[in-house]
Amino acid sequence: MRVRRQVSGALAAVLAGALALSAGPTAAQSGPPGPRYTAGAPGAGDAYFPFAGNGGYDVRHYDLDLTYTPPAPAPAPLVGQLSGVATIDLVATQDLDRFNLDLRGLDVQAITVNGKPAGEVAPPAAGAEVEGAAYWHVQDAADRIWELTIQPRPKIKQGQAARVVVTYGGATTRPTDIEGVLYGWVTMRDGAMVVNEPEGAMTWYPVSDHQTDKATYGFEITVPEGKVAVANGLPGRDPVTEGGWTTWFWEAPDPQASYLTTASVGDYDLRFSETAGGLPIIDAVDDNLTPANAAATEASLALQAEMIAFFEETFVPYPFNSAGAIVDDDTVGYALETQTRPVYSRAAREGTVAHELAHQWFGNAVSPERWADIWLNEGWATYGEWLWSEESGGDSAQASFDAVMEIPADDSFWDLAIADPGPFGLFHGAVYDRGAATLHALRVKVGDEAFFAASQEWLTRYDDSTATTDDFEAVFEEVSGQDLTTFFDVWVRTPIKPTTW
Ligand code: TRP
Ligand code: ZN
Repeated sequence: MRVRRQVSGALAAVLAGALALSAGPTAAQSGPPGPRYTAGAPGAGDAYFPFAGNGGYDVRHYDLDLTYTPPAPAPAPLVGQLSGVATIDLVATQDLDRFNLDLRGLDVQAITVNGKPAGEVAPPAAGAEVEGAAYWHVQDAADRIWELTIQPRPKIKQGQAARVVVTYGGATTRPTDIEGVLYGWVTMRDGAMVVNEPEGAMTWYPVSDHQTDKATYGFEITVPEGKVAVANGLPGRDPVTEGGWTTWFWEAPDPQASYLTTASVGDYDLRFSETAGGLPIIDAVDDNLTPANAAATEASLALQAEMIAFFEETFVPYPFNSAGAIVDDDTVGYALETQTRPVYSRAAREGTVAHELAHQWFGNAVSPERWADIWLNEGWATYGEWLWSEESGGDSAQASFDAVMEIPADDSFWDLAIADPGPFGLFHGAVYDRGAATLHALRVKVGDEAFFAASQEWLTRYDDSTATTDDFEAVFEEVSGQDLTTFFDVWVRTPIKPTTW
């Protein structure tokens, strides 16, 4: 049974106050010597999603031990049951009195920090002291605030490592993002499609849900025998079946952003292959695709090794330990570039596979520092589609560019400054197509040699990290030796169709 605490508007206001405080100037330079323990910020500082991620620590590794029961057959409600034990290894980046994790729609049963249990208390008033090791969970759906606060005792000193174990669970439903689009742990009749962008990881595990805190992952996912659970990376060991349940083990040793984790569950067929270079490819394809979707999917997935070779020649070596796909007969309405193993709805089409593969370099290895920088993901992935089309005998990148430039100047398509699309504009068509056109125009401006050299420098300099549009501009200026201020102003910062640049 799930008991939800109702949170008053006043409490939301208190939390918002905490956010404003923690976003202000940090500790005085001339304070007293010795530790000054304060609360970690309830957000990572992203203007679009102020409560996504948290401050005061850096997560190194998540170990997620999950047990999932999919819904019963129709007409039973489309609700699953998830229980989890998340073991989170972190390092404090300040002297920590308290810190937050993000967790939405599930309830906490127990928390330990370095083996010491914390007890659940009601959320305290702003500035109020709480006795001893404690935690409290605020879930305010109206204001989209989901914050689990943990007060460890003893306090954690800056630089100190801590292991936080959260035991949690509850009913899973079908969460939606700020635009109302399905994301996170999306319960399906035959399992779950798990696609977190931008801040839906918190719907299935306690997390610092922002890409500025990448971490490595281990997964142990127990599902009813016959179901397959697929996460990022490689199988850590063979699945174990006992008493009608199967446990699947996955290891993702390359740092990844929380929006790129998955642990999808379904009636998948697992297929193992590898590229000519020996990179493992693991595809999980739903048994129940329609014949037409199954045929299209087989044809596209068969091209993955060639696409990877093409992007490796064009850019830098593939950044992770494995590749592959999860293709579900259900739909969340889109595909997502989950790290190493993108999720596809109903079918994997060739252009989409090229897009999600390009994201492994652009978006996954190098991630947008703030959600405002999303065009660096979607513009590049779309440009990857254009390049693959040209490579495979379809339209040239120039022809794709020309098609975008045929959109009339008074079309609303041009009304978006793609370097600041707003939280409701993350997946606007212009972020994709104007983004790709920006890259093509940049290529023509600086020449192929500088363009591809700068792309490689970008991928090398910011590998396993995050970077901004300004960082991107700086790399291209540095490598090309050109002043690109006007170029980037016209293409990504001005909501008007570019005419000269
Ligand atoms: N990032 C995904 C892609 O382009 C798409 C995506 C994620 C999306 N969430 C969305 C598209 C919500 C529309 C709405 O590969
Ligand atoms: Zn994309």
